[in-house]
Amino acid sequence: MINGIPTLEDLGDVTGKRVLVRTDFNVPLSHEGETVTISDDFRIRAALPTIEWLTERGAHVVCASHLGRPKGEPNPQFSMDPVRARLAELAPGVELMENLRFNPGETGNDDAFTGELIDGIDMYVNDAFGASHREHASIVGPAKTLPSAMGRLLEKEVDVLLGLRNRPRRPFVAVLGGAKISDKLGVVEALLEVVDSLVIGGAMCFTFFAAQGKPIGDSLFEPDQVDTCARILAASGSKIHLPSDLVGLDAAGSYATFGTQLPAGAKGFDVGPGSAAEFTDVIMDARMVFWNGPMGMFEDDRFAAGTRTVAQAMADTKAFTVVGGGDSAAALAQFRLDDDVDHVSTGGGASLELLELGDLPGLAALRN
Ligand code: 3PG
Ligand code: MG
Repeated sequence: MINGIPTLEDLGDVTGKRVLVRTDFNVPLSHEGETVTISDDFRIRAALPTIEWLTERGAHVVCASHLGRPKGEPNPQFSMDPVRARLAELAPGVELMENLRFNPGETGNDDAFTGELIDGIDMYVNDAFGASHREHASIVGPAKTLPSAMGRLLEKEVDVLLGLRNRPRRPFVAVLGGAKISDKLGVVEALLEVVDSLVIGGAMCFTFFAAQGKPIGDSLFEPDQVDTCARILAASGSKIHLPSDLVGLDAAGSYATFGTQLPAGAKGFDVGPGSAAEFTDVIMDARMVFWNGPMGMFEDDRFAAGTRTVAQAMADTKAFTVVGGGDSAAALAQFRLDDDVDHVSTGGGASLELLELGDLPGLAALRN
């Protein structure tokens, strides 16, 4: 038991048992004509310790996951076939059900669907950290009736992320980026309670700039969040580091460098070199850093420098470093720095919600 949650050991003898393992195999896919390939199998490999623990002890493992966001009906675009093929290479003999979201009962958290899932199943293991913030049937249903436990991945993720929240080493720095701020305001406010500094990059900085009354040109921002950003700045402005320069496109569509005031028609797509250097200093001086969300549109080489510099600082700092979220993890991998941070979380939304609330529906389900 850890935090009142049973672990694999608590399942007792698993020999000959059929064990349903909820995994998060929601992996990025690339489509080329008819061929679908997995562009990153990190989430599949991350589930192997749990799968192997069970199979080595004679259990028959049945994995189940969602993939993408099909709308409650079968859709060949989101078929589990490519994942099943990769899983067969990594863990031969392990079953994988069809995409859970082909049935509306999954997201509807329908007891009848849970019943179908656990038909003929003896035990349940949740190892789907990345989906444990969802109150979906496969996450919260099976533990109501079956002997249940958390898998090794879920255990590790919870240990690391709750460690940040509950036992911070100071200075503790959070670096947030990405486009959408509405998803993240809850976590921004929760993090401001525990961190010493909050670095904000990515398009979300424009909603803060708008709250400061700065002209942001045609940059992406969320008008309905401006008031909340103003309130956050008034309450905790001294902890918040916003960019001091930006790069993007001017009104004519040419690459340009700006201060923090963007002329009409201009769009900011990355933090500038001055900001990246300042963010690096904050990260280098920290003892603990959590990073979620790229600093700019790093898929475009012209706007990758801010994210690359932050990724490099994460790799170089002596601080304990945790990266959460698919985009930041993909950026780290693109720059070949993923082995140089202490923990890459398999969860984006889940890691933010765990930091914000200290618990997740998938954990609560295992506790009761
Ligand atoms: C993720 O990729 O963030 C998880 O697999 C959850 O997927 P969802 O956001 O579609 O619920
Ligand atoms: Mg997501």
